[in-house]
Amino acid sequence: MKIDNNILSEAWKHLEDSVIYFEGRPIGTVAALDTEMASLNYDRIFTRDFFVSAIAFLLNDRYDIVKNFLIELVRLQSTEKEMDCFEAGKGLMPASFKKEKGEGREYLTADFGEKAIGRVTAVDSSLWWLILLRIYIKISGDTGLAAREDFQHAIRLIIDQYLTAHFELIPTLLVPDGAYMIDRRMGLYGHPLDIEVLFYAGLLSALEVLPRNKENERYIEAITHRLGHLVFHLRTYYWLDISRLNKIYRFATEEFGENAMNKYNIYAASIPEWTLEWLPDSGGYFAGNLGPGRMDFRFFTSGNLMAILSSLASKEQSDAIMNLIEERWQNLFGEMPLKLCYPALEGDEWRLLTGYDPKNVPWSYHNAGSWPFLLWLFTAATIKTGKSHLAEKAIEIAAKRLLKDSWPEYYDGKNNRLIGKEARKLQLWTVAGFIAASTMLSNPKKASELVFEQEPEGGTCILKV
Ligand code: GLC
Repeated sequence: MKIDNNILSEAWKHLEDSVIYFEGRPIGTVAALDTEMASLNYDRIFTRDFFVSAIAFLLNDRYDIVKNFLIELVRLQSTEKEMDCFEAGKGLMPASFKKEKGEGREYLTADFGEKAIGRVTAVDSSLWWLILLRIYIKISGDTGLAAREDFQHAIRLIIDQYLTAHFELIPTLLVPDGAYMIDRRMGLYGHPLDIEVLFYAGLLSALEVLPRNKENERYIEAITHRLGHLVFHLRTYYWLDISRLNKIYRFATEEFGENAMNKYNIYAASIPEWTLEWLPDSGGYFAGNLGPGRMDFRFFTSGNLMAILSSLASKEQSDAIMNLIEERWQNLFGEMPLKLCYPALEGDEWRLLTGYDPKNVPWSYHNAGSWPFLLWLFTAATIKTGKSHLAEKAIEIAAKRLLKDSWPEYYDGKNNRLIGKEARKLQLWTVAGFIAASTMLSNPKKASELVFEQEPEGGTCILKV
């Protein structure tokens, strides 16, 4: 597919303008370059936002900035982090960081959530870092970076933190609300799909960058073990298609004992009406959350697409997700791709689950707003499933407005017609998502560096050391 050169060159100009240099080296891109709205925290380098810039750079053979970013994050990784004198967990990677100046020198200050609005933790940062490290090595061939002792140590710290035993009987991570891209209350506490899939992809990445040696033996064993359980748990219990929905509808409840069919005691009455109409005959998706007495039936785009990329979804499930997207195109893509989740929380649900959050009113921002940065993920998933014509259609829609609208952070409304009420303009992951998607559509082979072709059998290592 040929993308309009004017749009692409504008996009590149913004991406270059957003680069932050530290001690003369490029180390990341700021979240937004908007000069009209208060910068708040948008002048910082966010780990999750930079991940998208990094994909755009890597797919276009720019390695230095990604390498420097990966190194800085190892330096900033928390070893002793305090908030109100309470020490946060060792091994966290920052949600964001910033270059500051003082006493004649430059230095970087990180935020692990202790400065963030609502003091939200970033469960996703370390996982994005692991996934980026793996992609960086695959594309650049620079195996030396991950083999460094400080990197190996950083990886083991992360694994220690994520695989520590908690009060749980299930393999998914227990996650607080607002712990990732959706960094405000949205009823996501528990086991949100978006994070669980990221957890899976992060562990898979770790497996590829931990060489087999005595020190890593127990880590590799623990990761491999957990991965197998995660695949089973998510593929079995989160999956929703019409036949599974019918089973849930007819489930017995209050079952005690090991042979329960309705393991999580889900009541049929909790199936929302929209789900029955929305779920197409030939499609399916992974539910948004699962816990005792609770299934969140909302569709979360990032988790479902990442499940395709990481092969957490089986081949049949990947095709079913794509079918659903095609069938429900108007709801998810509308006039600007791509809804973060569907549908919106409304009424009492919105009041109780968001705490009356005015930024997350129905069909706005995280509450079923549309986020163009997701285009990179969507494009890679379509290429993996042989449906790239869908990504071409999405890019065509996006190209009509993004430049004209100055690359907003998000769009609002049921059909994504309005520029987000509080959206920053010149938002860099919007810009980078468009560049990355365009690069993959011009050269679909490049998408293969971003995906995991199949689930691991005992793990494969890309580090030859
Ligand atoms: C908002 C988003 C968050 C993003 C940040 C910077 O806080 O909710 O996901 O990382 O902006 O763009």
